[in-house]
Amino acid sequence: MKDYQAVIVKNEKIAENIHEVTFELNETPKVRCGQFGNIAVGGTHLLRRPIAICKTEGNLVTFCYQLKGEGTRKLKDMGAGTRLNVLLPLGNGFYVEETEKKVALVGGGVGVFPLISVLREYGTKKEISAYIGYRNQGAVCGVEEFKKASKFIGVTDDGSYGEKMNAVQAFAADLEKGNRPDVVLACGPTPMLRALKTLVEKENLPCYVSLEERMGCGIGACLVCVCDMTNGAKARVCKDGPVFDVKDVVL
Ligand SMILES: Cc1cc2nc3c(=O)[nH]c(=O)nc-3n(C[C@H](O)[C@H](O)[C@H](O)COP(=O)(O)OP(=O)(O)OC[C@H]3O[C@@H](n4cnc5c(N)ncnc54)[C@H](O)[C@@H]3O)c2cc1C
Ligand code: FES
Repeated sequence: MKDYQAVIVKNEKIAENIHEVTFELNETPKVRCGQFGNIAVGGTHLLRRPIAICKTEGNLVTFCYQLKGEGTRKLKDMGAGTRLNVLLPLGNGFYVEETEKKVALVGGGVGVFPLISVLREYGTKKEISAYIGYRNQGAVCGVEEFKKASKFIGVTDDGSYGEKMNAVQAFAADLEKGNRPDVVLACGPTPMLRALKTLVEKENLPCYVSLEERMGCGIGACLVCVCDMTNGAKARVCKDGPVFDVKDVVL
């Protein structure tokens, strides 16, 4: 992990309230899927913002971000040539075992972005089915990436794109048809992950989830990001996660 002086080469809107920023670093970083960066968007007075690394290509690193509050709105207004400090790669990331040939990706909201990195890392080595939920048609993004999966089922909360359901319901419907993966990788809002946990426990499927918590340092030092484990212990989402075995975390 390094604190890079990264230069923005592109920063543009890709869907309703969603922007994509690409940084150039002074070297090619070693990143695995599901890891994230902590971006210093506002000099010293604002905390850094944790954002999943969506794509890497040589010295270029791309993040997709939803406009939410002060930090992401500041980032949106930064043009090519702007220099920012970006700490990366952080966290453990997703890992698919050699024996796990069929992978299901279940993503919703901003959770779709780390799943793009999984597809880029494992897409040619595994049979990947992606079940992706968006709020509505305007929020649909990343489709050109997800279409590279063996199967892509995109759905929306209001039915304006794909069927009217959420990503967990889309996954459950496919499971019912007998399409059973060896492992499930997921990222999305907590209620979505909670519903997924109930489903995978019932189906006895291995499942790993990437969690979102408010963060400070991003490197395990400040304890801002702790979450509860099922064994009563605490874990730091930034350092011990953000990816956990769903059995191990309280959702
Ligand atoms: C590991 C990880 C990966 C993430 N990946 C993405 C991604 O790929 N794309 C994306 O759009 N968002 C992602 N998020 C959420 C993103 O960090 C927040 O939306 C963002 O920090 C909001 O900042 P803000 O200044 O615009 O909002 P504000 O609400 O003004 O932020 C105030 C403070 O709360 C924190 N915060 C607010 N919402 C969240 C949140 N949901 N999770 C964590 N901290 C939050 C901010 O970092 C900041 O410190 C990720 C979060 C984590 C922990
Ligand atoms: S953000 Fe500081 S310990 Fe996780």
